[in-house]
Amino acid sequence: MTNLLDKPIPKAGILDIAPYVGGKSKIDGVADPIKLSSNENALGVSAHAVEAFVDAQGKLFRYPDGLANPLRAAVADYHGLEADRLVFGNGSDEVFLLLNQIYLEAGDNIVTGEHGFLAYRISALACQAEVKLAPEPEQRIEIENLLELVDDRTRIVYLSNPANPTGTWNTPEEIAELRARLDPRILLVVDEAYAEFVDEPTWASAFEMARASENIIVTRTFSKIHGLAGLRIGFGYCPKAVIEAIERIRLPFNINLPAQFAGIAALSDHFHIEASRQQVLNWHPRFLQEIRALGYFIRKSAGNFVLIHFKDTAEAEAANAYLMSQGLIVRHVANYGLPQCLRVTIGKDDENRAFLDALKRFATRT
Ligand SMILES: Cc1ncc(COP(=O)(O)O)c(C=O)c1O
Repeated sequence: MTNLLDKPIPKAGILDIAPYVGGKSKIDGVADPIKLSSNENALGVSAHAVEAFVDAQGKLFRYPDGLANPLRAAVADYHGLEADRLVFGNGSDEVFLLLNQIYLEAGDNIVTGEHGFLAYRISALACQAEVKLAPEPEQRIEIENLLELVDDRTRIVYLSNPANPTGTWNTPEEIAELRARLDPRILLVVDEAYAEFVDEPTWASAFEMARASENIIVTRTFSKIHGLAGLRIGFGYCPKAVIEAIERIRLPFNINLPAQFAGIAALSDHFHIEASRQQVLNWHPRFLQEIRALGYFIRKSAGNFVLIHFKDTAEAEAANAYLMSQGLIVRHVANYGLPQCLRVTIGKDDENRAFLDALKRFATRT
């Protein structure tokens, strides 16, 4: 007789972790839904990147460059960073995972905002660490609230700037203050996944601050402005000592070969980068204006998405269901502690028009 308990058991805590649920991509019975649920690039992939991806096909039997050296050089050049201070990940998600694996022991903790990106938390919990969530009044990270949670078991503070799903941001002065008041043995990870979409004078990249620091890491991704979410490329700009630790456990070929090819080409396509940014900057004020005119609360967002507030959870769920019935997929962000909100990615012109018209029909239904 087989004993049902006689099977491998995951270590404590693993099965308590809520699995990450990505943005939906299908609606039953709708052949071609409009997907505005994952903050992908409205304009898709750069034609240069597609060409480079296709060119990679004859080399697929080869292992990729383990250090992604040509991509590393291109990123260093593009952003004006030292190539030997970069680490690449299978998406920036993998950079967070590596950091958590390296710095967190059971009983340690990470601190982040209460509506902070879920990827930081999942791998921290897998390390049997605690996740401490700082209140975000006005859905914006408050430095004081983060610092209040920091204790002698805190190893990493994560801050996305701009933040997903709220779209709010922190100023360089706030980040400098946070860093100044943090024990230098605690890592401060500033996740700048949406940096290229920001058009705010009170925002600046933390790259310069990180350059002179032993405990700041800045992460970026190719999934947003470069439209390469499907290829999975992210990177961290890190102090040398962090790189030395990461390079001991990073899987040797974590950035696949076509991704490396396409990533380099994407960086060189200035036209696509600028067009992608302009698409968001052109539509953002129209989203604000039209959605406010319907009576919903919505803040300025520094990302390629907006967060719409409904009266309550029931109204957000009803709006979500109505939009689905119209072939539109957006993101209900209940698992980010915002059950009364829907997050909507700014899409192509016709997609945005379809969304705004459908929301108007919902708001004016009788
Ligand atoms: C704040 C934030 N950071 C990081 C990422 C993940 O990026 P990647 O695709 O590079 O793993 C996302 C993706 O949605 C995000 O919203």
